[in-house]
Amino acid sequence: MKILGIETSCDETAAAVVENGVKILSSAVASSAEMHAKTGGVIPEAAARAQVVSILPVLQEALSDAKCGMEKIDAIATTVGPGLVGSLLVGVESAKTLAYLYRKPIVPVNHLVAHIYANWLVESAPEFPAMVLVVSGGHTDLVLMQAHSTLEWLGGTRDDAAGEAFDKSARLLGLSYPGGPAIAAAAKDFKFPNSNFQLKLFPRPMMDEHNFDFSFSGLKTAVWRATQDKGLKISTEQLAAEVQEAIVDVLITKTLRAVREFRPKSLLLAGGVSANTRLREAFESKIKNLKLEVDFRVPPPKLCTDNAAYIAACAYFCHFPVAWESLETKPDLSISGQV
Ligand code: KG4
Ligand code: ZN
Repeated sequence: MKILGIETSCDETAAAVVENGVKILSSAVASSAEMHAKTGGVIPEAAARAQVVSILPVLQEALSDAKCGMEKIDAIATTVGPGLVGSLLVGVESAKTLAYLYRKPIVPVNHLVAHIYANWLVESAPEFPAMVLVVSGGHTDLVLMQAHSTLEWLGGTRDDAAGEAFDKSARLLGLSYPGGPAIAAAAKDFKFPNSNFQLKLFPRPMMDEHNFDFSFSGLKTAVWRATQDKGLKISTEQLAAEVQEAIVDVLITKTLRAVREFRPKSLLLAGGVSANTRLREAFESKIKNLKLEVDFRVPPPKLCTDNAAYIAACAYFCHFPVAWESLETKPDLSISGQV
């Protein structure tokens, strides 16, 4: 079954063709991040206008790379939220138009649930139950997944998301947008004075509370204070490393607490922040040190940040649970126009 995925929730315009939920036949992404870098963050109106410019070339690229015309597509999956409304509309209206023209079913997809499905776009599928940490620009959530479409929300951020903490701290430190990769790059350049040197300048909010919630707004304030303190002689590289370490510490501590409590078979990371090398490596070494028996998975960095391949994968696993090929008579799924 071939699904055309469309993703336009923020500043990436993406389309992809995915076969049977796991095989990426094509994945095209156009980003307007460079434009937003000039303003230090996303301006929703500007992002929506960039979506309009990119959507047709991106759709054409995805179909042509997959060597597949619309007639060979079985369904169209599109992000319907959460996201910026102007940006979302571009993807939804494009999906509706294609569905109407080619008489294809539309599958509405939740962007955050879809992020998790980047973990299925690899060789072997993770086993259930799975504990999932979704860390993106706008969300930080811990979710227990018993099966496809069976998700239990355990907790999430009470204020800023982890990605937002990266982005806003980067801005305070005079680093570029998006802040996550900029902080990671600056932190990499920090030379530790000695092997006992610990990065502990910033607070680890809610880390020791026995719940699965997060809070990152205080961290942002602490970074702001550090930038205002003229007596603090600390390099930008060290401040970046300190911010990264504080975020990574909290995410890992709370997630592994959930793993110890719920004993899932797999632990999955999802969302743009899971592209962070320090986070990935620290998770791996902590799991090893604590001898936790859990299959730790994190998608390749390119699949962590926004793309449409996981939108198509999510639609396949959550909306077409019966193996499509095994059906002798394909049901008429034409719901074109009804999103
Ligand atoms: O999932 P995503 O691409 O878009 C949303 O759904 O929000 O996540 C974007 C977020 C941004 O906050 C960005 O700074 C962060 O992911 N990010 C990173 C890295 N790459 C992207 N954060 C830390 N380290 C990275 N390497
Ligand atoms: Zn995202």
